[in-house]
Amino acid sequence: MEDVRIDPWNSDQSTDYGLLAEKFGLDSIDMNKIQNPSILHSRGLVFAQRDMDVVLQAARRNTPFGVLTGLMPSGRMHLGHTMVIEQAKWYQSHGADVSVAVADLESLATRGVSLDKGRKIALEQYVSNYAAMGLDPDKTQVYFQSTRPEVQRLGFRLGRRTNLSELGAIYGFEGDTNLAHVQAPLVQVGDIVHPMLNEYGGIRPIVVPVGVDQDPHIRLTRDIVSKTQWFNIKQQKNRGLLISLSLQPENLEKFGVSENGRIDRKARAAIFTNIEEKMKKQGFADIRSNPKHGTMTIPAATRDDAIRIRSELSKLEREWGGLGFMAPSSSYHRFAMGLTGGKMSSSKPETTIFLDDSMEVVRSKIMKAHSGGKATVEEHRRYGGDLTMDVAYQYLKFFFESDDVELGKIADEYQSGKILAGEMKNLCADRAEEWLLGLKEKREHWSDSLQEFLAEDAI
Ligand code: TRP
Repeated sequence: MEDVRIDPWNSDQSTDYGLLAEKFGLDSIDMNKIQNPSILHSRGLVFAQRDMDVVLQAARRNTPFGVLTGLMPSGRMHLGHTMVIEQAKWYQSHGADVSVAVADLESLATRGVSLDKGRKIALEQYVSNYAAMGLDPDKTQVYFQSTRPEVQRLGFRLGRRTNLSELGAIYGFEGDTNLAHVQAPLVQVGDIVHPMLNEYGGIRPIVVPVGVDQDPHIRLTRDIVSKTQWFNIKQQKNRGLLISLSLQPENLEKFGVSENGRIDRKARAAIFTNIEEKMKKQGFADIRSNPKHGTMTIPAATRDDAIRIRSELSKLEREWGGLGFMAPSSSYHRFAMGLTGGKMSSSKPETTIFLDDSMEVVRSKIMKAHSGGKATVEEHRRYGGDLTMDVAYQYLKFFFESDDVELGKIADEYQSGKILAGEMKNLCADRAEEWLLGLKEKREHWSDSLQEFLAEDAI
């Protein structure tokens, strides 16, 4: 397979979503499992996931789960940045608490933005729009990487579970990469796992909604978390789940391994009694333990059961002195095309619409946008337009037209040649204006009370 690497700091990404999903092992979205889908799902805008089952199960059972997302404050917020927030809102409507990391350390490390400037950009450009987009202030906490020591401490501590070669392989770091940049992904690992600390909500599933450009961080986090876990859970062909102890320097004593490597039977037996009790409480009667080997089979347990088994084992692990983290879930959105037909990028203002662009600028950008219309009116009337290449249509689909029926009608009429390219652009500009003016109004509404979204350590 062709060598693809994702560089999270460069917007020039592959958008061959099939290839990315295959290469990095992303799973597709099973629409049957999505309750109350939003247009993100019905339109395939969210196209892939890792372990999304875990949070969907929490939502279904009304048990706690959290969203962790983040923003790097380096420029103006544009349309592309709204998609994670739409995702976060959807999870929030299903019961999730939402934490938002302001990646001011990352912005300092990778873009040279000072912490003061980063704070200003974060509040004026991002948090104000997040509020306007309708996140629930009672269930949203925005914090800064630079003022949350737990995040940094975790980043530092978990750094022991990776090394330069791995970071080089994932991110392409080389000898001249500045060390703050090398640390940035570890801080992000800290961001992603810290909501599971007791003081930030405790052990519960965490989902990270992102664009695929952020998947390297998800992979790194999941890999590191799996290395810290004291228990492995494996699905066995037709024989339920196999739980095995993962011996590590930190847990040898607890797990009854003495200094000479011998197993202390009593200590080991005590551990197994504890686990068995937990599993019985979960309703499993048939539990086959092999304390000496450090394994336990639960024949009746299914893949679905593995989720709550993991959460029970995480709690035990933490009681016994481990971190007790669960691997984060993630869901991935597609990128809308740039106005000029290529990629959207904040460093090229002509490729995107900023949320504080004036209406004149917005209209003019849309009227100049890449079109899927035919060269002449006659041709267009006869053959119809190409929706996949039409920015105006794509923006209606991604951002401005929330009604599926209405969007379907517009699509049909464009493809049949009834709507001309210019008319499509006008339609898009009208809706964009409506959407952006509504947003502006709500931004103003929140302007004096943004602190409602800020965590205590962010004020
Ligand atoms: N790296 C992200 C970006 O460039 C920002 C970020 C920091 C983040 N921490 C995060 C995103 C945790 C998701 C989850 O935008």
